[in-house]
Order: sequence, then structure tokens, then C-alpha cells
Amino acid sequence: MLEEEYEKQIEEMIPCYEDLKYDYQQDRLVELLREIQEVYGYIPDDVQQRVCQEFGIKEVVIKSLLKYYPSLHAVKRHIITLCVGPRCSARGCGKVADAVREELRVIRENKAGLVFAVRTQNCMKQCTKGPNLKIDDRLYSGVKPEEVGKILGEYLR
Ligand code: FES
Repeated sequence: MLEEEYEKQIEEMIPCYEDLKYDYQQDRLVELLREIQEVYGYIPDDVQQRVCQEFGIKEVVIKSLLKYYPSLHAVKRHIITLCVGPRCSARGCGKVADAVREELRVIRENKAGLVFAVRTQNCMKQCTKGPNLKIDDRLYSGVKPEEVGKILGEYLR
């Protein structure tokens, strides 16, 4: 269902970059890739191929841009959202955030290429259950710092 919604957004987006067919400009292609990333959270292989076919661009061009711009990702990222609202703060979200940072440091050392992105949110409207964090759309409540490793580990399998 979500996938269909993403595809629909891509179908609407492609015609807006019609000019790339006749007048290739790297900046425009990067702009398109950023928009695709906004939709998926990364730039999936099949969408890269779709862009190549649509605009007559070689795959190697997109691959080079993905290397050149570290903010563009070809690998699906899991988005960790930490609640930093007042109630979660009072319940120790700072220590949970420290544990997340430390865990990510260890993961980066051991698993090159796997990507987590971290965001913060001011309140998740689950204050009585805090401290709260989300990974993608899944909510974890009452998180203790010592549980963070196990939680993130679920996404490394
Ligand atoms: S402050 Fe964290 S859910 Fe409200």
C-alpha cells in the first residue's frame, strides 16, 4: 500500500524534470534524487533505473553522484526518532539518547554500510509511557538505556 503511494509520487515527480531529457544538468538530477529520497528515505535501485531509462542517463552517472554526495543514500535507512519533550526528559530520555549514540558508534565500527538516521521530536503524545523512541513507525515506550542495544539489534538481522 505504502509502496503504491511512493510509486504514485514518483510518477507525478518525473514529468517535472522533463528538461533533463533535453538539457542534462547535474544540479537538476541531484535535485530529483533528493526528492526521491524524501519519498523513500533512500534511493532504491529500481527507481535509479527508472530515472536512467526516463532521461537517457547512464547508471554510472547516478552511482557516481551517490558517492559524491554523502547526503544521498542508496541503502534503506532506519529512522530513529527520539522524544526529547519535557515529560520524556523528566523520565530520562537524555540517558537513552546517550545509549543510542554509543550503540550507533559501535554499529558503525562493526557494520559498515548499514545506516541509521537519528531525529528528535518534541512530543509523541505518549507522555505517560516515556521515555519514548520510534524506529521507523514502531514506537518503543518506557525505554531503559540498557535496552537500546537489544532494540537496535532487531534491525541488524
Ligand atoms: S514528552 Fe515524550 S511523549 Fe510527550
